Amino acid sequence: MTDKSIVEQKLRDLGDSTPERVAARFAEVRTRFDEDANRQSANLEAWRSFVVQWTGRKSGMLTHITDNWLKPASPELKRVVGQELNQLKAHVESVLAERQTAIEAAAEQSARTRDQIDFSLPGIEHAIGTRHLIRQTYDDLLRIFGAIGFSVVEGPEIETPYYNFEALNIPEHHPARDNMDTFYIEGSRTGHVLRTHTSPMQIRTMEKQAPPVRIVVPGKVYRRDNPDATHGYMFHQIEGLAVDTDITFCDFKGTVDYFAREFLGPKTKTRLRPSYFPFTEPSAEVDATCHVCGGKGCRVCKQSGWIELFGAGMVNPAVYGFVKYDAERLSGFAFGMGVDRLAMMKYGVAEVPLLFQNDVRFLRQF
Ligand code: DAH
Repeated sequence: MTDKSIVEQKLRDLGDSTPERVAARFAEVRTRFDEDANRQSANLEAWRSFVVQWTGRKSGMLTHITDNWLKPASPELKRVVGQELNQLKAHVESVLAERQTAIEAAAEQSARTRDQIDFSLPGIEHAIGTRHLIRQTYDDLLRIFGAIGFSVVEGPEIETPYYNFEALNIPEHHPARDNMDTFYIEGSRTGHVLRTHTSPMQIRTMEKQAPPVRIVVPGKVYRRDNPDATHGYMFHQIEGLAVDTDITFCDFKGTVDYFAREFLGPKTKTRLRPSYFPFTEPSAEVDATCHVCGGKGCRVCKQSGWIELFGAGMVNPAVYGFVKYDAERLSGFAFGMGVDRLAMMKYGVAEVPLLFQNDVRFLRQF
């Protein structure tokens, strides 16, 4: 704070009665101003109050000097005091103006430094997850079938025996029911089951939708298997169904070939082996040339050159009867893939449990 005691007194009281004394007094004030001005740092608030102390209209130093030194000055000294005061004013104003810019720049600079982010500090690392291998495989499958016009539908995991079996042409006591050791829901009067396959969605879709139908159905299915390296009580399937007035066995084989090439590589060939499913006639197991050896025979394909992909076939006309489709006019094909199997085969995973133990060391590899 600038000491105001001298400017609050009259020159006469200070004993300054000659031009020399007046000049010396002004020199003293000017020195004090210069010293104070030099002390100002990048603190904007201190700077503003310093400016007010000197140029404030009501009680700044210059006002005090005008009021206490100039106005009451004796006629002989008035001219000198006036000159000195004008010079001091000019000096103060020019120094203040000059320093103002520097102080503002410095203040801005120091604010910038204060707010600066230190990029060398270690940040908070968020672990980024990956899509699970099963999810990746599903995405792949949905992309492949989506590209040729199949849309995706999903259905309930708790099913009625009608949809899981009957309407798929698997009547009670049919041996096919034995192959699918079924979980029955306790206490369900209608005998609800955990679906053993995604095929029930063939029926649910055709019940609701008039032909043509072109769908894939991803989802979980359940079977009472004892868990081991190749079995769990739950696994993933994707069902496919295409029904229209003009679908032939060629369309079926063409779709199968397209899928195999997309999923395993452009050189992949397929073959069909006769099989049996109650809801397809004829039925087939689709094999593909081994994606590891290309068909020459290796450990992965157990030297056969072939890998079993999935079950499929032409929709059994008996199924159309359950959904009131015209079996005379319509034809189609269906398939059911084990997604876990496909993923394990494609990525060389040896044991089912690895897929579901959620060990990041395993998951990270894909
Ligand atoms: N639902 C059969 C199963 O889980 C798989 C299957 C085979 C589905 C042939 C089909 C098909 O749609 O045509 O074993």
